[in-house]
Amino acid sequence: MQDLRETYLARISGAADQAALEEVRLAALGKKGEISLKMRELGQMSPEERQTVGKALNELRNELDTALRAKKAALEDAALDERLKAEWLDVTLPARHRARGTIHPVSQVTEEVTAIFADMGFRVAEGPQIETDWYNFDALNIAPEHPARQEHDTFFMHRAEGDDRPPHVLRTHTSPVQIRAMQDQGAPIRVIAPGRVYRMDMDLTHTPMFHQVEGMAIGEDISMANLKWVLEEFFTAFFGTKVRTRFRASHFPFTEPSAEVDIQCSWEGGQLRVGEGDGWLEVLGSGMMHPKVLQAGGIDPDKWQGFAFGMGIDRMAMLKYGIPDLRAFFESDLRWLRHYGFGALEAPSVHAG
Ligand code: PHE
Repeated sequence: MQDLRETYLARISGAADQAALEEVRLAALGKKGEISLKMRELGQMSPEERQTVGKALNELRNELDTALRAKKAALEDAALDERLKAEWLDVTLPARHRARGTIHPVSQVTEEVTAIFADMGFRVAEGPQIETDWYNFDALNIAPEHPARQEHDTFFMHRAEGDDRPPHVLRTHTSPVQIRAMQDQGAPIRVIAPGRVYRMDMDLTHTPMFHQVEGMAIGEDISMANLKWVLEEFFTAFFGTKVRTRFRASHFPFTEPSAEVDIQCSWEGGQLRVGEGDGWLEVLGSGMMHPKVLQAGGIDPDKWQGFAFGMGIDRMAMLKYGIPDLRAFFESDLRWLRHYGFGALEAPSVHAG
């Protein structure tokens, strides 16, 4: 009995892990364990023997059982210690720096413009950047021989040899979206269409790709007065200060009458300030939609009339945020992007008119 005790106590304390300990438990106290078998032998003993041996066996079983439990707990503690050591983490270490991108001024201004016009009931419409020449020109009352086609410095897409349909073009303005929006939605309608446009032009103030936003409102009695109010409301909200506008008679094939619109500004001390002084800065083209344009969009010009305008987004960004060079917009210089970019969580700043 004493041998059994020492053997098993030694094996218990020597068990390296839970599996080894379980083996010891089965060898001693399992159904076919040594102690259990000894217990079974009690039946063949005399009553006196049974009393002493039985008592001793019981005590031994209890002792081994206690030792097994204690060892089990010790092994569990050790395992936990190991884990705590392995998973230790210094939360006081400074966080690793993460490079954060910025919102491009063109995206920011597009959001701002969209938000302001949305407040006036304009929805965003879209069209493709590769257009048919019908949408880009004919539907807008620009005939094939019209000088405006040359003025627009159009990029033409390549056609396969033998294909003599008129080539597609990179849209030279957002005005073709007027036609698409009318065809899609009919009248009455109020939309803006921001997006990329392309012209073969490259100098200090021109890039071959730039951004415009088209505006269009059609109703039964929409007039130039509505156009002027909407634009003044827009500029005032956009620049955060009351901005007066000046309409100058102009010409576009797709509007009649047509007007170029200037906004009020001052140049004092070589610094441009919008909404002050008595200088003027041209910012957009506009007018009442030509009956032929309404017709091309499937809208009856005897019943409906509307205004349209087209404005440069990049130009607006330069004016609002004091960005001097247009070409830098599209050079992807990280230093420029970090300097003029906006944080991802900066909401478009829209001021009440
Ligand atoms: N599409 C004209 C341009 O790009 C601007 C414009 C739009 C003028 C709508 C009048 C009406 O110059």
